[in-house]
Parts: sequence; C-alpha cells; structure tokens
Amino acid sequence: MSRINFYHGETIPLELHKVRIVQKLSLVPVERRLEAIAAAGNNTFLLKNNDVFLDMLTDSGVNAMSDRQLAAMMEADDSYAGSATFTKLEAKIHDIFGLQYVLPAHQGRACENIISQAFVRPGTIIPMNYHFTTTKAHVVLNGGAVEELVIDEGTKVTSDHPFKGNMDPAKLTALIDKHGAGKIAFLRIETGTNLIGGQPHSLANLREIRAICDKHGVMIVFDASLLADNLHFIKTREEACRDMSIRDICRAIASLVDIMYFSARKLGCARGGVICTNSEAAYLKMRELVTLYEGFLTYGGMSVREIEAIAVGLEETMDEDMVSQGPQFIAFLVEELKKRGVPVITPPGGLGGHIDARRFLPHVPQQQYTAAALAAAIYLAGGIRGMERGTMSEARDEQGNETFAKMELVRLAVPRRVFTLSQIMYVVDRISWLYDNRALVGGLAFTEEPKLLRFFFGKLAPVSGWQADLAAKFRQDFGDSL
Ligand code: F0G
Repeated sequence: MSRINFYHGETIPLELHKVRIVQKLSLVPVERRLEAIAAAGNNTFLLKNNDVFLDMLTDSGVNAMSDRQLAAMMEADDSYAGSATFTKLEAKIHDIFGLQYVLPAHQGRACENIISQAFVRPGTIIPMNYHFTTTKAHVVLNGGAVEELVIDEGTKVTSDHPFKGNMDPAKLTALIDKHGAGKIAFLRIETGTNLIGGQPHSLANLREIRAICDKHGVMIVFDASLLADNLHFIKTREEACRDMSIRDICRAIASLVDIMYFSARKLGCARGGVICTNSEAAYLKMRELVTLYEGFLTYGGMSVREIEAIAVGLEETMDEDMVSQGPQFIAFLVEELKKRGVPVITPPGGLGGHIDARRFLPHVPQQQYTAAALAAAIYLAGGIRGMERGTMSEARDEQGNETFAKMELVRLAVPRRVFTLSQIMYVVDRISWLYDNRALVGGLAFTEEPKLLRFFFGKLAPVSGWQADLAAKFRQDFGDSL
C-alpha cells in the first residue's frame, strides 16, 4: 500500500492487496440503533455485532489475515511438546529481531503477567513512556508503581511533534536521582503508545534512554504490540532512518532492549503473545511461570495454527507496503475529519483515529462521561462502533470520587487490511453530520456501575431524551437512507 497522486491532484492511500474472502455486514436503521444502544447500556463493548456496521472498537485480533497465513495454518504441527511449528516461530524471531530465547503466551496481557511476576517486587518503580491498562494492572497487582515519563508534548491533544510517544530523558534522570536505580524493577517502553493516540517514539530516543539505563544498570522491557505502525513512523518521520529498511529498524530496536514482548493479536496479525530476549537469566526466570500459567513451552496457550500465522505475519510485517497500510488509512481519516472541523488528535498516529470529545462536546461535562456520550452518538449516527477512552475508563478513588481523565477520547480503530476507503469516507461523513448536530448530544449517567473494570461491563442511560431527538434529526436529514 502506498499513497498515490491522482491525475487531478488529490493524493489518496491505495491498497496493494485484493480482497478474496468477504464477510457480509448489516447496517440497521437508526430506529434499531436507538434500541440497540439502549440495550447495551450506552456501552459500545456491550453492543451485539449484528447491530454494528463498522466495528472500529479495536485492531486486536481482527486484522485481516493473508492467503499465506491461512495456508500456513494448514501445516501446523500439533503436539504438546516439541512442536515444529514453535521451532519455526523461534527461527523467525531470531531472524527478524536477533533474539534467541522465545516464550509463548496466550496474549499480550499474559506476557505482562509473566514479566511482572518475575521482576516486579513490592515497593519497586516501573518507569514507562505511558501505561497501558493491562500492563499497569499487572504491575500494581505485584506491588509496583508506574511512573509515566512521556514528553510533555505527548499528552497535548493537538501538536505537530512527530514522536509524541518519546520518553523524556530529563524526567528519567530526575527519577533515578530521586529514588536510586536500585528501586527500579525495569523500565518499559511502549511502542506506538496506545492510550495517547497510537503515538510513536523515535529510534534516537530509544538510544538515548538505553544510554541512561546502561549507566545505571536498568533493564529495558519493550512492549512491541504496536510495532508495525511505529516502524512506519520511524522510517517516514526520522531523517536518520530514511535509508534503513524496516528489517534494519527492527534489528536496531531489538538490540537496544533486554526483553521484548507483544500481543500477537496486533503485531503479526493473528492471535497470541510472545516474550523474547537474549538474556538467559531472564529467560530462566520466566520459563516456569509460562508452563504454570500458559501451557508447555512450545505452545503457551496458543493454538499451533495461530503460531504458524504469527510467524508468517511477522515476515509480512517486514514489508513496507504492509506496515504503511494502517497509518496511511488513519492519516486519511484524521485529515478528512479535520477538514470538516471535527476535533481530532494530531499528528495522526497508529492504531486508529482519535476524536477529542471535550472539544466536540464542550457542553457535556466530564461528570456525564463526555467521551462515552460521544461514542454512543457516533454509533447512533452510523452504526460505527468506537471505544471510549476517557473518564469512564478510569476508576473512582477510595472515597468514591470520580477520577477525571486527562483526555476524553473516542478511538476509531482501523484494523489492517479490513476496511475500504469508501467505508472510511462513510465514517467521515456520518461523524461530520454529528458534529454539525453536536448541540443535540447530551450526557450519560451510570445505571449499573461495577467497582472493577466499569468500562467493560458498566451500563449508562442518557440524562435527557437527547438520543431520541438525535435519531429523529437523522431521519429528517437522511430520509430513507440508513
Ligand atoms: N500492550 C499494548 C500496547 C496493547 O495495546 C495491548 C492490547 C496489550 C498490551 C495487551 O494485549 O489484548 O493481547 O492481552 N490492546 C488492545 C486494544 C486490547 O484494544 O488496544 P492483549
């Protein structure tokens, strides 16, 4: 996939693959969408897929697989121990990253469980560029504390900084000076930083952080789940890396970290999780935990078919046409929304487009879950399922007070090779209609609020009759159209 210039001047992303297996989608009328979002308690996690037209909840486990991945799945070697399929995955990881020891797990958070149990001790600190929900939970469960050291630009919604996911070296040095390196269990870098809008870090930044860690003997754990997008950004935004191949960049990154892990639901376009390292000592520390929590060392809770698909998916990720697909579609989505005045996170990152709900709905206070209200409204406007990334995703403090999120975002994930450009244009159209009618959108209040993980299971209701009014306006503007 690449961006091409049209004869008449426009530049658009162009898919360099063809679609050979399709899945029928249903776009239900707005009246049905009104019922469906009410039944789901205004929580997009609780919508049924039959009521969803474009599922932009996540890119996790839902990227399109290739003909080669499907073919490889047919020759998987199914055995409890010594599977030839696992040997293939080890060889592929060695080839791409130069890392020798490979441990399997059933998905990314399972890798986090293993790593946290092996290395986090009560009272330790784990500096990160930014946390991810499951990562933080595992660190905290093992008695550690997360310190976020992303550059200040990272949490500014609009910016033109090319690497908003960079860790701030000065903040790291200050942290080490304050607490001493001995208190640090490990430092974690998340590539393609998820919760701040899929924003990348640079190779130069990783080198700088490595130098500080070397000086103080701190181990680096690298979460490579969103590596594909970050590779594209390093190649296209980092001057010094322009002439490097994707493979060269991968090798350079892997040589700077001690342990790498990833969710293969994202990297590798299949389903599973992998931990890899060149440290025999680290490998031995984690090995028993894998057999206890995941499965034997040559499958680790994954189906061997998926392991075959991951090995092929990793090889396909070395192709620039492949890694550019996600970011270029996302950039197109973000730029088209921006042209229509819709407030979005800039510059466009990986994973998906991110809408700034506070600027979209300035009249809906955070107490009424601005981002959740916008996610529900986007579903009503077009059967499009996004994910709330705001106050609803936070937990209340010990006194029961709300913890207001720094950013109220709706994430519209763009799984790789799944959507066509006309579907992206449909998303742009329905969201810009919603933006023009934003005054109609109101807030939400909890009707069922679980103590833990309320963003997964919680249910909310509109604070007024705004959803029926919005649906009526939709019918008035779009006539018979769905
Ligand atoms: N690390 C990052 C950066 C992630 O984005 C995720 C998952 C994980 C770890 C955990 O991996 O789901 O395989 O257990 N992110 C998904 C998302 C859930 O929708 O962004 P997992």
